[in-house]
Amino acid sequence: MTSSPLHLRSIACTGRLALTLLLLVVLGGFGASAAYLVTHHENRDEQPGFTMDDVRGHYHGVRTGSALVAALERNHPAEIEGATALPEAQRSALLAWLAGDRLSETFDDLDLGDDAPAEVLAVSCLDCHSRASENAIGKTLPLEYWDDVEPLASSKTIEPVDPKILLASTHTHALALGTTTLLVVLLMLLTRWPTRLRNGLALLASLGLFVDLGAWWIARDVGSVIPVIVIGGTLFIVSTCMMLTLVIADLWLPQRRA
Ligand code: HEC
Repeated sequence: MTSSPLHLRSIACTGRLALTLLLLVVLGGFGASAAYLVTHHENRDEQPGFTMDDVRGHYHGVRTGSALVAALERNHPAEIEGATALPEAQRSALLAWLAGDRLSETFDDLDLGDDAPAEVLAVSCLDCHSRASENAIGKTLPLEYWDDVEPLASSKTIEPVDPKILLASTHTHALALGTTTLLVVLLMLLTRWPTRLRNGLALLASLGLFVDLGAWWIARDVGSVIPVIVIGGTLFIVSTCMMLTLVIADLWLPQRRA
């Protein structure tokens, strides 16, 4: 079944113990990286949880429109039962203000009188969108002060990671993960497991790592390869952890009689 001259299981107990401890350290390292990945990236798109947009924001950048513009364009709050629609004149005044580039300066501009954005919001929106409102959903999104309104007014651009940082990250990841995986693959090839399983997992892990790191760079210009980063990374992590587990099992399972 196996053609390798050396079998891991025939190494002395102390040697196998040493290998096992090191492999457990590597497994723990992968667990820590996964946890770091999630906490480090999950808020990039300001949506809770770790989403594809977090990954997209990091490697490619994301542009999201203003939530206020979106709400006004769908003629909010007219669609809500019992709500008074915003009069057209005020709606276009708000949209014109949002399209301008002096948002904070003109928010409560006295010269604009009743058409000042702060006034329009106070009259038409604060019934629902104030902290004291009885509208349970509306009060979670207060529009009372400029600080409330600002994040909803401007469109956001998430810039992709700086190329210098990506270069530093590539150099540490490529060398560290490349060499670690190389050793795991070598150990895997010395186990008793069926040839197809050994070679198959080795190939999947290497392919996953190769594609993942390569896609980091391609994704800067080509947003559509973002899923490749996630798929490659997952493939790499899953197959490497499987190999680590199988190697540890091979180290300790009773030796097969020839
Ligand atoms: C009758 C109560 C009510 C009034 C009046 C009202 N809203 Fe809302 N608003 C809601 C509720 C409920 C939601 C959450 C459900 C939804 O998105 O439709 C909401 C959501 C929003 C959102 C978030 C939409 C999104 O896509 O994330 C914005 C922005 C918003 N309102 C702005 C306004 C503005 C500006 C006004 C005044 C012109 C206004 N609202 C008036 C009840 C109200």
